[in-house]
Amino acid sequence: MAKPTIIEAFERAGQGHVFAFFDQLVPANQQSLLNDAAEIDLIEIGRLTKTLLSKDAAAGANLAGLAPAPYERRPEKGGDAKAWAAAKTAGEAALCAGRVAAFTVAGGQGTRLGYDGPKGTFPVTPIKRKTLFQVFAEKIRAVGARYGRPLHWFIMTSNANHEATEAFFVMHAFFGLERGQVHFFRQGRMPAVDLQGKILLESKSAIAMSPDGHGGSLRALDRSGALDVMAKAGVDILSYFQVDNPLVRGIDPTFIGWHVLRGSEMSSKMIPKAYASEKVGHFCTQNGQTIVIEYSDLPKTLQEEIDPVTGGLRYLAGSIAIHIFDTKFIRRMAKGGEGVALPFHRADKKIPSIDAAGNVVTPDKPNGVKFEMFVFDALPFAKNPVIIETLREDDFSPVKNAEGLDSPKTCTEDQLRQFVRWLKANGASVPTDASGLPPFAVEVSPLFGYDEDSFADAWKRLSPKPEIKAGLYL
Ligand code: UD1
Repeated sequence: MAKPTIIEAFERAGQGHVFAFFDQLVPANQQSLLNDAAEIDLIEIGRLTKTLLSKDAAAGANLAGLAPAPYERRPEKGGDAKAWAAAKTAGEAALCAGRVAAFTVAGGQGTRLGYDGPKGTFPVTPIKRKTLFQVFAEKIRAVGARYGRPLHWFIMTSNANHEATEAFFVMHAFFGLERGQVHFFRQGRMPAVDLQGKILLESKSAIAMSPDGHGGSLRALDRSGALDVMAKAGVDILSYFQVDNPLVRGIDPTFIGWHVLRGSEMSSKMIPKAYASEKVGHFCTQNGQTIVIEYSDLPKTLQEEIDPVTGGLRYLAGSIAIHIFDTKFIRRMAKGGEGVALPFHRADKKIPSIDAAGNVVTPDKPNGVKFEMFVFDALPFAKNPVIIETLREDDFSPVKNAEGLDSPKTCTEDQLRQFVRWLKANGASVPTDASGLPPFAVEVSPLFGYDEDSFADAWKRLSPKPEIKAGLYL
């Protein structure tokens, strides 16, 4: 049999070892190895190993000319109240016109949480133990009902969790959403390489492949046909959020309005960092462009620098991974072209693999490199990017770790505080401690109220008002 051309291409690229065991494999395994190989862009891998594995790459982020990015302050913090009100009106109009869809990136592996299964299937609410996916689904349903236009919801999965994610939605009848409104698609994959740039094998018949990062969502949205679905449905505004954050206002009219009124191609929310070393990205400017610098790349001195005017942190604006995209911008980024491409970041990892003799290697220190794209790296390519301030307590309480910060416990408590804030704002009396936490659990379904406005309306209609006590579920 003639040698498949793909094997020759790998040999020419210095990656012929990938097929070292090919002749020992049964035909089905040969095919699956060829399929893995076909996903790989050898030119891209060649370029990445040259640039990211070089000594210069270890020098870290370029900090020349870096400054904090400007952002729109909330009205109660000195922002322009009229502009905020106008943004809300514009956002509501966009929702009524059916221009908005929701987008959740759910391809991550949830390793830190130690949860086995798609992260979106993790239960988070205090009483009903609703999962992350159910919370988002109910918010999206409720927004659609409020504005009279059901929203499409796009969910990016990875190879590892795609089937399980779809099956979960089927099992739960799509949480009351129309089946045709929920769209799943897989993100792309990248091969891991060793420290010399050689592609690693997971087994004799499989390349060590891993998800290409949430930045891969832009090309996956294009490739999967999701952008075409949006175009057909008249959607040009995509509201992006992460699967780990049940507090997120996934669809926020005011944020949408800022994006629309500014003619922005990509908009972001910031929160003031709680403390200097908080592990969030930092919104900055450099050479007239807006960028995000990860906490791991911003030197401690800058993380801690004090602004002489405000007396607070100079690099205050933390990224909570909530963005809005113009769909034409996504198409442009996905197509790429001269100088238009998200950069890859290098992550050194312990990668289970086989060695040249075919023996299994279980490393105890990083033995290879994974390549990932980050979605916030699209910001410098966007026209008129706008960053708005939001309240942490209304937008951000992720579940990332099994214990401690950003854990199921802190997230449950933040939900309780939010429910109680809404109750109190509408005249109910609820005992709380100094942090706003009640001594018992209550829960508000997004279908009752998903933000302060929708809650206030529903509460007004409620007669008689219920007694606020342990176990109350609205
Ligand atoms: C991320 C951001 C950080 C931000 C913080 C807020 C990065 C590098 N950092 O940190 O700036 O302040 O969230 O919570 O993103 N995902 C995929 N596919 C992938 C990788 C990730 O879909 O290949 C999804 C995950 O499912 C998750 C989200 O992206 O929804 C975030 O991923 P994660 O790696 O947990 O980011 P963090 O390090 O927590």
